[in-house]
Order: sequence, then C-alpha cells, then structure tokens
Amino acid sequence: MRKPKVMIVGLGSLGSVVLEFLARDEAIGEIIVASRDRARAQTRCNLARVGALAQGAMPQIRFVPVDLDDIGRAAEVFARESPDLIVSTASMQTWWLTGLLPPAARTRLCRAPFGAWLPVHLTLAMKFMRAVRQADYRGHTLVASFPDVVNVVLARLGLAPTCGLGNLDEIVPKLRYLAGERLHVSPRSIRVLLVAHHALEPFVFGSPGGEVPPYRVLIESDGRDVTEEVEAARLLLDPYPLPPGPAWHFLTAGSTLRLVAALVGVSEGLLHVPAPGGLPGGYPVVASRSGVRIVDLPGLSREQAVAINERSHPFDGIQRIEADGSVEFTSDATGVLKEALGYNGGRLQPSESEARAAELIARFREYAARQGVDLAAVEATSRLMT
Ligand SMILES: NC(=O)c1ccc[n+]([C@@H]2O[C@H](COP(=O)([O-])OP(=O)(O)OC[C@H]3O[C@@H](n4cnc5c(N)ncnc54)[C@H](OP(=O)(O)O)[C@@H]3O)[C@@H](O)[C@H]2O)c1
Repeated sequence: MRKPKVMIVGLGSLGSVVLEFLARDEAIGEIIVASRDRARAQTRCNLARVGALAQGAMPQIRFVPVDLDDIGRAAEVFARESPDLIVSTASMQTWWLTGLLPPAARTRLCRAPFGAWLPVHLTLAMKFMRAVRQADYRGHTLVASFPDVVNVVLARLGLAPTCGLGNLDEIVPKLRYLAGERLHVSPRSIRVLLVAHHALEPFVFGSPGGEVPPYRVLIESDGRDVTEEVEAARLLLDPYPLPPGPAWHFLTAGSTLRLVAALVGVSEGLLHVPAPGGLPGGYPVVASRSGVRIVDLPGLSREQAVAINERSHPFDGIQRIEADGSVEFTSDATGVLKEALGYNGGRLQPSESEARAAELIARFREYAARQGVDLAAVEATSRLMT
C-alpha cells in the first residue's frame, strides 16, 4: 500500500518540531517541507533526516519553496505536489513573545485576551486556505493558528479547513494523567470526552483568575463513568505548570502527529480537535481518512456543545463573529491594546486583517523596545535555535 505524503507549510518553531516528529514516524511515506527560507529549511530537513536515522527511521523529506504572500504560486505547488494532508503553521508572529517582556509590562499587556491578536493569526491562515481552494486541493487541511476562532472566520468566508490542531487536545492528557493517579490506574484506561474552547487552556495550565469559561466533560475508567469520583472540575484546574514559550510545541506536535496519522489513514481513533469544519471551540472526534466526525457527549446535543463554545468566545476577547466573517472584539481586548500599545482594535473585516496585523506587530515591537526588549533579535535567535 502507498504510504501517505504530508506537507508542512511554515517552518517556524512549531513547524520544526512537527517535522522532527513526523520524520520519526515510519508510516509516513514522504514529508514535503514548504517554507520561504530555502537555506534554513534545508538545514532543518537535514537535521530531521539524520536525527531520525540516528533513532532508526529513514524518512523521505523534500523542500519546496512556498510564500503564502503569492497565493497563485502556492496554489500551483499544492496542486502539483497533491499530498494527502497539508498542515499550516504559518503565522505573522508567534504566540509567546509577550512572555519576554519585563513583569510589569507583561502583566499590563497580558490583560488582553488572546483573541485581541486575531489578525496576526488569521492573515496567513486565510491566504493558505485561498491557495488551497485555488489549487482545487481535496486532501485534508489543518490550520494551527488560533483555530478555535480563526477557523470560524474562515468558515464564514467558505474557506474552512478540515479542523485545527492542538489546544483542546493538549488539555486531555493532563486530565487522563491526573484521573489515572487519583484512581491508581494507568492513564491508558482513562477516556475523556471534553467540549471546551481555547479560552479554557490558561486556567488548565495556569491560574489567570476570574470566571472559568464553560465546558462539559465526561471521564471514564475502563468504560465506567468516574467524572464525579475523580472530581473532574477540580482536576481540570489542579496546578500543572508547563514551561512557557516554544518548549510547549512538543505537546502540540505530539497531539498533531496523532491527528495527522488518523487523517492519512495510518491509525484511527478518538481524539480532540479545535474547530472541526469551522465550528467554534473544540470537540471530541473520531478522526479517520474520511475526516473528523464529532462524538456527542451523552445528554449534550450538538447544538448545546456549539453553544458552550460560542459562550466561550468572549473569554478569549471575541464578542461576535458575523455572517460575513467580520469580528467584534470585547472591550477588554480592545481597551488593553489601546491603552498599552495605542492600537485601535475595533471591528475587524477579514480584508483588513493583513494591514491590521502589520500595525499591531509594529506597535508591539515599539512597546517592547521601550521596555528594553529587541524582539527582532529574539526572533532571529529563535530561528537559529528552534
Ligand atoms: N493550536 C495550537 O495548539 C498551537 C500551538 C502552538 C502554536 N500555535 C500557532 O501556530 C502558529 C505558528 O507558531 P510558531 O511558534 O511556529 O510561529 P513562528 O515560529 O513565528 O513561525 C511562523 C512561521 O510562519 C511562516 N511564515 C511567515 N510568513 C509566511 C509567508 N508569507 N508564507 C509562508 N509561511 C510564512 C514562517 O515559516 P518559513 O520561514 O519557513 O516560511 C515562520 O517561521 C502561530 O499562529 C501560533 O499561535 C498553535
């Protein structure tokens, strides 16, 4: 049987870890690395090849130049290569840079919910999906950038990818570990069904304070409902600190690998994904070659599950996503960025996303520079080190 071909678009911090993990999976036939930066991508491809071989695997990895700013040429590459699945990790800026600011400046800026940065994550996801459509590409597509919200906007524009990755699926292993510990059984015998939004994640791995976003969870041990017995609501919020910054990508990439394997038909199973088919927030799904199928929790209709995640949007700074894909932000999202950066983050039309992202990034860099942090230097170092 032909082994699947997988393409990664964007070889930043997350894309590089996904590449390393994919390279060690012998069920994958070929990995196509699509990046703007030929020299860097080739060294990363070499590292993945020799690292995988050092571990005993022999991946086929190939570089192709792709710049999503040229949608037509990106579409030609997608059509020509026609992989079984494309995962896009392309983004105008990564998520962890605010963590580099001095404590007072960081606290001030981090009062803005994550969704305040939406244009930074939306812009290239939109270009990626436009190229996918232009190529008439029919394989599976995964978007890494803030999918709980980004994919909803994409869906309003008729550009929904198969689903997102990470986020909700990063919460589930914590629950399985802690529930297993509490019951003195292996986490392998613990099954979790969770409906929740990206907005819940800061509460699961930190303690931001304030109201916890809504969610619904079912935990089973060898088929027995133990949700009450393990005190799932407490487990979810039990301290479980993770290192800040790009080290987190080992968790995201681990989850991504299982999702990719399922979607290319190597394995099938229950997992959790953000934004299947452009729905808000995350859901349990069975993923297989034919796509992702949502698994409903007992006693919770699909409409109720979607409503939980709709109600979570404002916790991430998103007041409303209109039928035309324009986005109204909450006043705390716009207020903090206005006060700290002088950035005016009113209603976002998707067509304005790129210009808005460029302005937001520029103002953030000026703000960081005033705090003595040179973000361009940090990013250059990060590209060397990750
Ligand atoms: N869902 C999750 O659980 C999860 C977890 C972690 C991160 N993320 C998200 O994933 C995204 C990437 O994060 P990261 O830390 O890897 O960011 P990063 O290190 O800044 O990498 C972003 C990459 O995007 C690519 N890119 C930029 N402009 C491009 C263009 N015009 N055309 C094609 N590619 C372009 C670049 O790759 P090349 O230089 O190779 O072209 C760049 O390295 C962010 O949106 C982040 O928030 C999601």
